[in-house]
Amino acid sequence: MEQRMSLITLGVNDLARARRFYEEGLGWKVGLAEGEIVFLQLNGLILSLYPRAALAKDAGVVEPGGGFGGITLAHNVRSEPEVDTLLSVSLVAECDGEVVGHVAASPVTLSEGTTEWFGLGPVSVLPAWQGRGIGSALMEACLSRLRERGARGCLLVGEPGYYQRFGFRHLPELILPGVPPEYFMALNWSDDRPQGEVDFHPAFEATA
Ligand SMILES: CC(C)(COP(=O)(O)OP(=O)(O)OC[C@H]1O[C@@H](n2cnc3c(N)ncnc32)[C@H](O)[C@@H]1OP(=O)(O)O)[C@@H](O)C(=O)NCCC(=O)NCCS
Repeated sequence: MEQRMSLITLGVNDLARARRFYEEGLGWKVGLAEGEIVFLQLNGLILSLYPRAALAKDAGVVEPGGGFGGITLAHNVRSEPEVDTLLSVSLVAECDGEVVGHVAASPVTLSEGTTEWFGLGPVSVLPAWQGRGIGSALMEACLSRLRERGARGCLLVGEPGYYQRFGFRHLPELILPGVPPEYFMALNWSDDRPQGEVDFHPAFEATA
């Protein structure tokens, strides 16, 4: 993944005061101010100011407390096609207008050169909504989107007890360095016999 940050959002208690600090205190120019958000252009990087309580609500955390630091970081891609190089599928589950689950898949690289294989993950459902079939619906929808776009197979890292129900099995010929083999599973829709080492997108190597 390109080493580039696009947007840093600061959660502020008093938007007008914070804006004055940057505009009057530092002499910076506001690029755009819309509703409750203020954007300052920083030579390629954008700093945005957003009410702290609204940011906490977006992040789904209780503020104050809950370890909420009031800052978000974003990496914006430069073009629509670039989205596909990072995320081939990205789906959310919504209930009453609230996002309660998400699943994504992205291309993987196989050392022997086989193409059109994808890595599924992460998949997540808000704790209060787990155990109602939302995770399974997201998994099924993601797998069928991958098949529609011509995927030959799908790989993932996770609990065998959960993913086996979707047909995932450990393939001994495939290795994901650093991951115990039993947690690395594949679903093969082709007559490929993939083998060797697998690389997920470098974004998955990022650490907090
Ligand atoms: C895994 C997860 C996405 C499942 O979502 P969900 O909406 O609860 O799933 P469903 O309702 O479709 O399925 C629930 C079933 O999965 C099982 N299950 C859930 N997590 C499991 C796990 N880690 N290991 C084994 N089985 C699991 C439940 O026991 C239940 O089994 P049952 O159908 O026999 O009763 C959700 O639990 C979650 O977000 N977990 C935290 C994030 C995570 O671990 N993601 C996966 C790694 S990327």
